[in-house]
Amino acid sequence: MFEHKVDPSWAAVEKYLSSAVVHPDSSLQHAVDSATEAGMPAIEVAPNSGKLLNLLVQISGAKNVLEIGTLAAYSTIWMAKALPDTGRVVTCEYLPEHAAVARKNLEAAGLADRVDIRVGAALDTLPMLESEGEGPFDFVFIDADKQHNTDYLEWAIRLGRPGTVIVLDNAVWEGVMLDPSIDDVNGPGIRAALQMLGEDLRLDATVMQTVGGKGWDGFALAVVR
Ligand code: SAH
Ligand code: DHB
Ligand code: MG
Repeated sequence: MFEHKVDPSWAAVEKYLSSAVVHPDSSLQHAVDSATEAGMPAIEVAPNSGKLLNLLVQISGAKNVLEIGTLAAYSTIWMAKALPDTGRVVTCEYLPEHAAVARKNLEAAGLADRVDIRVGAALDTLPMLESEGEGPFDFVFIDADKQHNTDYLEWAIRLGRPGTVIVLDNAVWEGVMLDPSIDDVNGPGIRAALQMLGEDLRLDATVMQTVGGKGWDGFALAVVR
């Protein structure tokens, strides 16, 4: 797996910001701990990024959220917590063992009734959502296998509507767009997504760089025109 380089001061500031400003609740800390215990990779979003997702859901007034890449439901919990009682998250996860941990964490957080986990490769489960008449989704968070980033952007548009907010994680990946040799597995999908975000007339986008406990990375923010 690709290891991001971490400057200790980025990690220390992230820790400070988490406790001084973000203060994630115990259900979020539990989600992180449960993933560690289950031997899952520690690749959930940082606390300040999770809170950003929460705020973006609030600010956009989203009621219907789609997530691609659940892991232990850390980001799912952040987004579900921002929803009104009538709101809902559909989250797509490839690995049944990740989905099982996520389900437990959502139950412990008291959010299981507003989150629907779809197990399987997202490129199989997303068409099912469409044929079931799910959507339009108001907010889409893309954070799964980077190889399929452009497919997921396509699905976000297809299952969205004009005004749908899209957040795509891992859009910078230590600058892989300028130096593809950094990671030839994830790099091409990350670069392709940036090109689509910049050129596809159906999208209006920017990309923010981030540093923190998981290194130098970033996220794209887009709206469907
Ligand atoms: N959004 C989570 C982190 C997701 S990590 C958080 O911030 O808390 C990426 C997840 O995507 C992993 O659980 C991985 O199993 C899942 N994944 C990988 N390929 C996938 C695919 N093709 N379809 C759906 N999920 C996939
Ligand atoms: C990895 C995946 C992620 O979604 C992330 O935010 C960080 C790392 C990974 O596969 O290494
Ligand atoms: Mg990610």
